[in-house]
Amino acid sequence: MTTTSAQDGLRDHFDAVIARHDRIEPRDWMPEAYRSTLVRQIAQHAHSEIIGMQPEGNWIGRAPSLRRKAILLAKVQDEAGHGLYLYSAAETLGVSRDELVRHLLTGRQKYSSVFNYPTLSYADVGTIGWLVDGAAICNQVPLCRTSYGPYGRAMIRICKEESFHQRQGYELLTTMMAGTPEQREMVQESVNRFWWPSLMMFGPPDVSSPNSERSMAWGIKRTSNDELRQRFVDMTVPQAAVLGVTLPDPELRWNEGRGHHDFGEPDWDELSAVIRGEGPCNAQRLAHRRRAHQEGAWVREAASAFAAHEGPEHD
Ligand SMILES: [Fe+2]
Ligand SMILES: [Fe+2]
Repeated sequence: MTTTSAQDGLRDHFDAVIARHDRIEPRDWMPEAYRSTLVRQIAQHAHSEIIGMQPEGNWIGRAPSLRRKAILLAKVQDEAGHGLYLYSAAETLGVSRDELVRHLLTGRQKYSSVFNYPTLSYADVGTIGWLVDGAAICNQVPLCRTSYGPYGRAMIRICKEESFHQRQGYELLTTMMAGTPEQREMVQESVNRFWWPSLMMFGPPDVSSPNSERSMAWGIKRTSNDELRQRFVDMTVPQAAVLGVTLPDPELRWNEGRGHHDFGEPDWDELSAVIRGEGPCNAQRLAHRRRAHQEGAWVREAASAFAAHEGPEHD
């Protein structure tokens, strides 16, 4: 076999695995662009989990009861765990964790735009669980079937935990809606702020999403941005009705003919600005992450020194 035909064989194997919707594993040959697309996507996802700890972490010390504090603490810890599974999945593609963290801290790799908005009241903890984790679930459930094995398997566990997050958020909002008029107002005000950023979490519209088509062909992405956004709106509208809040979109209505809700257009200029680093909290989120990374240096050094001393079995 010549080198070229050996390569053809590897490519044929890759194409056949993708065509039958099976998994590509780390040991398999893969096109370089498939690998780099996955690294970018998984890293961005991991960074989102880690940066996403900040808006809610902001309220751990001010939770209204011990029960609420325990729930929020567990939720924020779950997000740290999600980041770790995802960094590990990315590492199977030949990048190091150090490299990915560096790309986050230097702003070369992005994280979800939604975490660049501030959390101004305790209702935001509920709204983030309900809407932001709810949107994450819509995005992530199809990723359980993504074509890259380690990513898909990480997503299965993450999705189970995201369902818990969504429910805890909804339960908190239900409790507040049964409370005082001020508490109900707090919920409505929070939903008003987070509704549009949640819709933007699905990314730009399909017509202006340059990488989507190729990611769909490779089975990395299974559902388009617009389809996922529609699924999220259809899922959320009845939940908002039960809760008794109004979603801040005058164009939102059921369309009998389509069998879906029609809804208004998110402000795509705002999304571009937030992605460019001009959102209300971009600078704060990165500064906080950099500081935490520096302050944790001694832990990493101690762990490395311990591993070197104890030998490889403890590494
Ligand atoms: Fe998460
Ligand atoms: Fe979550």
